[in-house]
Amino acid sequence: MHSSLNVYGHRGSAGTHPENTLVSFKAAERACVNGIECDVQLSKDGIPVVIHDEKVDRTTNGVGWVKDYSYEDLCKLDAGGKHSKRYQGERIPTLEEVLTWLSTTSLLINIELKTGYLPYPGIEEKVNSLLNKYHLTDRSVISSFNHYSVKRIYELNNSIETAILLRDKIVHPWEYMKSIGASSIHIEYQVLDEYLMEQTTKRKIPVRVFTVNTIEQMRKLDGMGCDGIFTDYPTLAVNSDR
Ligand code: G3P
Ligand code: MG
Repeated sequence: MHSSLNVYGHRGSAGTHPENTLVSFKAAERACVNGIECDVQLSKDGIPVVIHDEKVDRTTNGVGWVKDYSYEDLCKLDAGGKHSKRYQGERIPTLEEVLTWLSTTSLLINIELKTGYLPYPGIEEKVNSLLNKYHLTDRSVISSFNHYSVKRIYELNNSIETAILLRDKIVHPWEYMKSIGASSIHIEYQVLDEYLMEQTTKRKIPVRVFTVNTIEQMRKLDGMGCDGIFTDYPTLAVNSDR
């Protein structure tokens, strides 16, 4: 592969495995990705857990809000069976479990703080201390649709790379990013345009794009000079001839 595009397994290998579970992250690693992306919320007792939705309903056999479950009770939920019978018994991992495993690999990680909808007081401090504990600050990028969370991470540790997540076009994001200490842009595929790429390339601001699941899109983004993509199909991305 001659491309310089970094491939991040989105929620692990969400197209082929139950999203945001250890089996999914390990599948992404086997596909030889550069990194993984995961989503983090807090349990009722304040443990950072890896799950995309604020509710457990879509991905597990439980019902209700993550914030209303103790970590012990979240552990009792099946986070694999809804994907397929084969993965029955997979659990919602804690961020610490994912980092423990990640530190045995050479993978990069993008931790997305899911603070855009519900407040999770203290989540930024907890994630920062876990990254310090596992010596992973230089392999991590922390992102959020809630840019107050991005700013908070920068205030806690300005050596951690932070990214603003965008689902809309904003004017001169490179100016705005300076005001919150963000160093990169994670943007939805449909929102990216040539002007943004020209301006960010000039300023050496990394742009990573989600969620990119076809070879045509991967080729196009590679040609545009994107730094990375998030894909549900790591094998497809890594094996594509770009
Ligand atoms: O971090 C990139 C992407 O994961 C953002 O959207 O909803 O898939 O978490 P979402
Ligand atoms: Mg995400």
